Amino acid sequence: MGGIIIRRATPADVVGIAHVWRSSRPDHANLADALELDGLPACYPVTLVAVQGDGETVGWLDGTVESRGLADELNPNGIPAPHAFVSEIDVHPKHRRKGIGRALFHTLVALADEAGVILIGLRAQEDEDLAHRQAFFRSVGLALLDGTGWVGDVRTLARKSKSAVDIACVSSMANGLIGEER
Ligand SMILES: CC(C)(COP(=O)(O)OP(=O)(O)OC[C@H]1O[C@@H](n2cnc3c(N)ncnc32)[C@H](O)[C@@H]1OP(=O)(O)O)[C@@H](O)C(=O)NCCC(=O)NCCS
Repeated sequence: MGGIIIRRATPADVVGIAHVWRSSRPDHANLADALELDGLPACYPVTLVAVQGDGETVGWLDGTVESRGLADELNPNGIPAPHAFVSEIDVHPKHRRKGIGRALFHTLVALADEAGVILIGLRAQEDEDLAHRQAFFRSVGLALLDGTGWVGDVRTLARKSKSAVDIACVSSMANGLIGEER
């Protein structure tokens, strides 16, 4: 994933995010339109973008590191709140299988680890793409919790990501930069 930076999104990123979202999930085009009109969603306070050196947005992730409200949804087996949660993750189809999705996910893991959160989870949408999603979730270290719920231990994943994913985590996020390829 040469020359790609993972950073927090700014309001100016909505056009690039909407483009990635529409290309990745045509069934979510209406949601991408709404995001472009309304701005970054407030309910998921962590929005990350993967941006190429030429400024093109190639991926994004929406989630939170301290999800309390969503605990019941992802909690059929008693996952304690708070836990980090991925609401949406998309990589532009032209840029898949280069490690961008993994880097976005592990950047959220690093933020959750910094915040002292123990668990991270997500719920996979069930459609014809479920099999590739499941392969991705397994590959980043999540375990299937029930039919569509996935969960992982933040500390274990954070340790793994330090060796498995070559991103430099910058604790001081004054400039918005979170991780980049070394
Ligand atoms: C899921 C998604 C975000 C993965 O992004 P990505 O950048 O292509 O993923 P990565 O390159 O980081 O893949 C990491 C690993 O996941 C697995 N993986 C990813 N896509 C896969 C696929 N289509 N089939 C099988 N395994 C896959 C592989 O093990 C891969 O490692 P490898 O390439 O070394 O074999 C991307 O395919 C996507 O945007 N899909 C549509 C949106 C979506 O379904 N999002 C999830 C919402 S619940």
